[in-house]
Amino acid sequence: MRDQLAILASQWNQSLKSLFESDPNRGARYVAEGAGLRLDFSKHWIDQTVLNALVTMLDECDFDTVRQQLFGGKRINFTENRSVFHPALRAKSTDEFLIDGVSVVTDVLTARGHAYAFAEDVRAGTCQGASSKTFTDVVNIGIGGSDLGPLMVSEALKPWIDGPKPHYVSNVDGAHLHDVLGELEPETTLFLIASKTFTTQETMHNAAKAQQWIADALGADAIPHHFAALSTNEEAVQAFGIAPERMFGFWDWVGGRYSVWSTIGLSLMISLGPDVFDRLLSGAREMDHHFKEAPPEANIPVLMALLGVWYRNGFGLETLAVLPYEQRLHRFSAYLQQMEMESNGKRVDRDGEPVSYDTCPVIWGEPGTNGQHAFFQLLHQGTLICPVDFIMSANPVNTDLESHQLLNANCLAQSESLAFGKGFEEVYRDMVDQGFAESEAKRLAPHRTFPGNRPSSTIMIEQLTPESLGALIAAYEHKVFTQGVIWNVNSYDQWGVELGKAQCNALRPSFISGDATAFSTSTQEILRWLLKNTH
Ligand code: F6P
Repeated sequence: MRDQLAILASQWNQSLKSLFESDPNRGARYVAEGAGLRLDFSKHWIDQTVLNALVTMLDECDFDTVRQQLFGGKRINFTENRSVFHPALRAKSTDEFLIDGVSVVTDVLTARGHAYAFAEDVRAGTCQGASSKTFTDVVNIGIGGSDLGPLMVSEALKPWIDGPKPHYVSNVDGAHLHDVLGELEPETTLFLIASKTFTTQETMHNAAKAQQWIADALGADAIPHHFAALSTNEEAVQAFGIAPERMFGFWDWVGGRYSVWSTIGLSLMISLGPDVFDRLLSGAREMDHHFKEAPPEANIPVLMALLGVWYRNGFGLETLAVLPYEQRLHRFSAYLQQMEMESNGKRVDRDGEPVSYDTCPVIWGEPGTNGQHAFFQLLHQGTLICPVDFIMSANPVNTDLESHQLLNANCLAQSESLAFGKGFEEVYRDMVDQGFAESEAKRLAPHRTFPGNRPSSTIMIEQLTPESLGALIAAYEHKVFTQGVIWNVNSYDQWGVELGKAQCNALRPSFISGDATAFSTSTQEILRWLLKNTH
């Protein structure tokens, strides 16, 4: 069917302009709503025939069955023999989430309750540092899914932060830890070591440095008071010196890039408070219901997935720009990069056979309006066509409506300009009207022409709240799942990150010995240069 998409795409000869001209109702027709989100997908290269074909393709992938397997706790991450059960992390006590017939809901609620109780203690100042001072700052040390989710959410929900200030250290580059700790006092700093495996090199390295920082300032006995662990690896946590009651666990069925809903979100529970965290979960839960129940033509994550597949496999488009017109979503694209590219950046299908079609595009983006003054030139006039997800809200949070409406006017102006452009004739005529000589107008008009016909979605929320953010994240999670089903890949493993880790371990001793003969001459020469120039 993916091949049929390429055929259908090769026959596609309509422009966005003609589509809108021929259907006065198009702007209202291609809209889906659910869980507080509104998806306008009218500015896409689709008509009813294409939409029907995309939905048929979904049926042919047995999508309903795999979706039931997801929510039914089946081990769809078959290369690691694990369920993929992040929706269960959003569970209420009345919900049913079973793995092999056994409910996980009690475990989820107990772990969440344990984390919430600790968060409340830290917020209330009943849990203090070694010198009996209240914690004012929480430093989450983690990387990938153990960093990007909490970091992105803490930026997005900044107005709700009323507890200790959250900080995030991920990079093994010592500059990261150094710069964060430079602002903090050891006596009032709590470290959360966030690592599902508790073996990740960067995290363990930074955690040891943080321990040293506390020991140097307050003595080694202070360490237990200033550390907690968010992990699934009890043994490693204990070996690191964190007591069981300071360990906040989760399960192997939580993928790192889907773990923000678990105790990996402890920095959020502490800084925002459990009530706000609950609201985030409830928004995601609403999106789960929408995803399970809405028919494909009205299902936001499904539509997002189908459109992505249409461009990737029909037209060979290689990227998706996610451009939030919300400054506080400035880490959202970075968060999605891991969620989408680590999930569906795969080259073999479920049977281990190389795929004969393209899978995940490059996900990238920056918030508007900043991007407009950087890369939008390419979006409008470059040779690469980049579909865009615009994200916008009707209301600001804690800022003025005037600025917000100016922001939104920019967003709408961009999607409108990308879709409809400005043709040579119109540009030429405008220039002549402005007093340009005809020859000059002819010479300059090609440079000022906008081809248009560049597709985009607009995802709308009423306001960036914990609920709408939860729904937005979950919408992308389910989009990724849906695309993984269509591409027939395992979206939930990440073997592609292993080789680099092994090579790093093998290379590390070369920085001491100076001997890198096991590696290429390029690597040998780079190492030689580095060591020669090391002060
Ligand atoms: O980059 C690989 C990866 O395993 C991610 O999938 C994960 O989110 C990240 O490393 C961190 O892993 P951990 O939480 O085990 O430290």
